[in-house]
Amino acid sequence: MNEHSKPHTPDFSDDNKRRGFMVKIAAIVVGGITSIIPAVFAGGFFLTPLLKKRDDAEEKSDGFVRVGSTASLVPGGAPLAFKIRGIKIDAWTTYAEAAIGSVYVLMDEAGALTAFNATCTHLGCTVNYKSEENSFACPCHDSAFALDGERTNDIPPRNMDTLEVEIRNKEEVWVKYQSFRAGTSGKIPV
Ligand code: FES
Repeated sequence: MNEHSKPHTPDFSDDNKRRGFMVKIAAIVVGGITSIIPAVFAGGFFLTPLLKKRDDAEEKSDGFVRVGSTASLVPGGAPLAFKIRGIKIDAWTTYAEAAIGSVYVLMDEAGALTAFNATCTHLGCTVNYKSEENSFACPCHDSAFALDGERTNDIPPRNMDTLEVEIRNKEEVWVKYQSFRAGTSGKIPV
């Protein structure tokens, strides 16, 4: 019987067992790496909003919120309304980026800014800007305010609430957003 006609018998030698063991280890290592890489990218993807959130929080740590750009304001022109977004909590849910209020920002002829909280000082509705009269009015119970925020009838208990406003980095408009108690003659932060 020559070499080629020998029946094939399984080789259970130590060398072969060792080789099989090494192949299994290599498969585990390669499998582990290929499953870790997507997990790292997926983790980065999901963590990114959290990291961004932290940056935003740092930007707002002085209470100022960037609402827009001076490029959108006309000197001596109409006030612009900007929405303020932030964390809103109701009975069941926390919303990370919900609209929590709005502000009006005006630029005078000299480029100075004035900001008002758009919440009516009467009972808390949102005040509208009326371009026909170039003044503010509340649709709920007809409170009326001049362009400088001063009340022009006796319905609201006080003028519109002014807010601190600054220009940063040459063209960014930043407002220190605050809410105040409605229905009182005093400006009481809440
Ligand atoms: S809430 Fe604005 S007039 Fe009453």
